[in-house]
Amino acid sequence: MTDQKEIDDHSGVETTQHVWDGIKELNNPLPRWWLWIFYATVIWSVIYWIFMPAWPLVSSYTPGLRGHSDRANVAQDLVEMYAERAAYAVRLNEASLEQIRSTPELLEFAIAAGDAAFGENCAPCHGRGAQGAPGYPNLNDDIWLWGGSLDEIAYTIRYGIRNENTSSHFSQMPAYGADGILTQTEIDDVTEYVISLSGGDANAAMARRGAGIYAEQCAACHGPTGGGDRLFGAPNLADREWLYGGDRETIRATIADSRFGVMPPWEDRLDPATLRALAVWVHERGGGED
Ligand code: HEC
Ligand code: HEC
Repeated sequence: MTDQKEIDDHSGVETTQHVWDGIKELNNPLPRWWLWIFYATVIWSVIYWIFMPAWPLVSSYTPGLRGHSDRANVAQDLVEMYAERAAYAVRLNEASLEQIRSTPELLEFAIAAGDAAFGENCAPCHGRGAQGAPGYPNLNDDIWLWGGSLDEIAYTIRYGIRNENTSSHFSQMPAYGADGILTQTEIDDVTEYVISLSGGDANAAMARRGAGIYAEQCAACHGPTGGGDRLFGAPNLADREWLYGGDRETIRATIADSRFGVMPPWEDRLDPATLRALAVWVHERGGGED
């Protein structure tokens, strides 16, 4: 090494004067701006070590002067969220169902809580969008078997339908074929009459005979003109909406064997605030009555 600078002929750059196998190393220093940023990050990391949690120790870590902890922050957020929820739950329990509907923030909370509870508990039968399936009513329309007011919906959810709960809704359509109440021919006739009630394509002669059987056997529950009766949860047979199905075969099967749709009671499985939230949620789906 000499003290004299050596300039590479080819590139015009100063060399380090190191030579390997006749190849000389050029001395290209790092740009200033890069160095300054590098020094700044070094200084920043030291400041960070001092103030924030940084170095792992055997069983813990250096906490830093600010005592920051993401875990503690999350825990704190959770505590606040539960406190807020609990406060809403108390208000939900204290307010009348009508008051919930007329208080926007309470209504919003009830719908959010109701939506979550519906997905967990009710969707397996009624569908995630409450659209229903054969035997499981659609809860979005304005057709109600047992009643569509807020209180009626709350009652249905609380006690259920045709279950062991003593307050459950209850009724039982006879199995006209299986129990030998009507003959095969009579069932065929009354089937045609049921089809004619909603303007379907029925055999007129059979339907005429079926009308007499209907008046005798069915009108008490389904109403004289097939309008249904909520006292028995008996569906309207004159609209074109069907709980089980409106084709000839399905109607005949319903009359011959009856159905007995069961919904469990929820009063012991869900807390009171959730029960109310669900009632509001169902009611707000669009078909709620006053
Ligand atoms: C095991 C299946 C099942 C589950 C779970 C279930 N339901 Fe039902 N639900 C039914 C059946 C079946 C009916 C109709 C019974 C009938 O024929 O009257 C019904 C009827 C209803 C009705 C009455 C609709 C009307 O027209 O009057 C409401 C409201 C209702 N369910 C809400 C709920 C809510 C809310 C939940 C969740 C907490 C739920 N259901 C969970 C089976 C279920
Ligand atoms: C004791 C009351 C009662 C009597 C009497 C009765 N039903 Fe029903 N019917 C019901 C109920 C309640 C349902 C709902 C089905 C269920 O889940 O049990 C129903 C359902 C039906 C359905 C299915 C409707 C749909 O939307 O899918 C038909 C069809 C029907 N009944 C026809 C008849 C006919 C025809 C007679 C007479 C021969 C009759 N019912 C007598 C109570 C009655």
